[in-house]
Amino acid sequence: MQMGIFSCQPFDEASISKLAGGDVHLHCFPARLDENTVPLCDGLDAVCVFVNDTVNAVVLEKLKASGVSHIALRCAGYNNVDLEAAKRLGLAVSHVPAYAPEAVAEHAVALMLTLNRRMHKAYNRVKEGNFDLNGLLGFNMAGKTTGIIGTGHIGRATARILLGFGCEVLCYDPAPDRQLQDAGARFVPLDELLSRAHIISLHCPLNQHSYHMINEESISKMRDGVMLINTSRGGLADTQALINGLKSHKIGYLGLDVYEMESELFFKDHSCEIIQDDVFERLSTFHNVLITGHQGFFTQEALGQIAQTTLSNVAACANGTMDTTTFLVKPAC
Ligand code: NAI
Repeated sequence: MQMGIFSCQPFDEASISKLAGGDVHLHCFPARLDENTVPLCDGLDAVCVFVNDTVNAVVLEKLKASGVSHIALRCAGYNNVDLEAAKRLGLAVSHVPAYAPEAVAEHAVALMLTLNRRMHKAYNRVKEGNFDLNGLLGFNMAGKTTGIIGTGHIGRATARILLGFGCEVLCYDPAPDRQLQDAGARFVPLDELLSRAHIISLHCPLNQHSYHMINEESISKMRDGVMLINTSRGGLADTQALINGLKSHKIGYLGLDVYEMESELFFKDHSCEIIQDDVFERLSTFHNVLITGHQGFFTQEALGQIAQTTLSNVAACANGTMDTTTFLVKPAC
C-alpha cells in the first residue's frame, strides 16, 4: 500500500508514521494537492489530504488515472472534495468525523475568554512593565446568553463547557440534540439566537446552504457589541461584512481560527514576506480581533486519533470493510 500525504507537516509525518504498519509505505509531500501537484500521485494507492488541499473533479480524474483508489481526509470537514465526482469515478472517500471534538471546543472557548478578558493585550502590557488596567475591562461569562450554531460533536462539546460556566445556551441546528436539551440547552430558531446571544459560536459544516450564513443581514440582527467566534470554516462568514460590522461597532469581539482565503496563508511562515491579502491585513489591525491559524484541532490527543482513524480507513478500504461512519463515498477499492 503506497500512500501519499499532502500538505504534510513534520507533526503529521511523526503521528502517522508512529502508527503505520510495515505494509503501508508513506510518501510525505509538504505541497498542497491541486492540479499542479497531482502528478506526484503516479503509482500511489491512496492519498491523505487536509483542509486546504484541492480535490475537485479535475484532480479526482487525474488521481483515478494515476491508479489512486482512496482519498483519505485527515480532518472532519470535506467541503474541499467533490463527492459527486468521486462517486462517478468510483473513488472511495473517507474522513475523520469525530476526533477529540473537545480540542476544537476548548479552542473556541479559549478565544472567547481571551477576547473577553483581553489576555492578548494584558500579556504584552505586563511584558513591557505596563500594569495599567484601563482598556482591559471584561465581563462575567456566568449569566450571559450564548448561541451555538451547529450542535454536532464540536458544538455539543462547546455547549457543555458554556453550561458549566453558568451561561444560558441557545442552539440552532436542523437536527436538535435531545441530550443537549436535557443538559439545559435550548433549541431556538436562528433569528432568535442571532438577536439574543451575547456570544455566537459557529460549529456547522461549510456547504452550499451555510456559505456566508454570517453576512450583512444576519449581522444586523445581532446584539450591539456581540462576540462572534468561528472555528469551523472561513466560508461561513462574509469577511467584508465582518469588517463592516467591526467598523460600525456592531461586532464588539471577533475570534477566528479559520478564514475564507486561508489556503494562501495558513500553515506556513510568511513572517519575512509582504502579505498581499489586504482583507486579511485589515482584519488583523482591529484590537478586538483575535486570529489563530486553524489550530483548533491541534492537540496531542486529536493528532493521535486522526492518525489512528486515517490508517484504519486505509486498511478498511484495502480489505473491503468500509463503514458509513467514516466513509463518505464507498465504492469497491
Ligand atoms: P458534525 O458533523 O458532528 O456536526 C455538524 C452539525 O452541524 C450537525 O449537527 C448538523 O446538523 C449541523 N448543521 C448542518 N448544517 C447546518 C446549518 N446550516 N446551520 C446549523 N447547523 C447545521 O461536525 P463537527 O465534528 O462538530 O465539526 C463541525 C465543523 O468544525 C466541521 O464541519 C469543520 O468545518 C470544523 N472543524 C474545524 C476544526 C479546526 O481545527 N478549527 C477541526 C475540526 C472540524
